[in-house]
Amino acid sequence: MKLKVLFVCLGNICRSPLAEALFKDKVNKKGLSLHFEIDSCGTSDYHIGDLPDDRTMINALKNGISMDHRGRQFSRNDLEEYQIIVAMDRSNYNNIIRLSDEPEYHKKVVMMRTFDPKANHEDVPDPYYGGERGFQDVFEILDRSTEELLAHLYYTYLLRT
Ligand code: 4NP
Repeated sequence: MKLKVLFVCLGNICRSPLAEALFKDKVNKKGLSLHFEIDSCGTSDYHIGDLPDDRTMINALKNGISMDHRGRQFSRNDLEEYQIIVAMDRSNYNNIIRLSDEPEYHKKVVMMRTFDPKANHEDVPDPYYGGERGFQDVFEILDRSTEELLAHLYYTYLLRT
């Protein structure tokens, strides 16, 4: 059984596709890709079918990470399909939770920065309307957070199955 992990933000062109790419890179480097299915999506329908934002892709490439995700919108079905749903901020979290009353589904939804060892805020900031520095900040937040998330999932799921 593969562990299915879904990263969610608003547009699915900045934060969540980068979290997906970073998490996949770490999973591949640790030789764990057979154990995971990894995707990302947005709560909005603004960027369905789009590649990630150029600023996100260029900054990721500078850091050695390439991205080829195409935007898709979160749907209620994802609550059933995925075991771990990782929201980038509180607004994304609330938008996901309100799609179902089912406590079993709510338990699957977590905030990305609960895994950030240096978190100074609960949200991964949205870099979309900001400057270039914001994209590097988001990269560093997601690099740290996805590393911890993978360690957490490895010990809580993979070592026990
Ligand atoms: P993301 O950033 O949620 O990290 O992908 C955004 C991308 C696009 C928009 C907002 C946030 N937008 O309003 O189009």
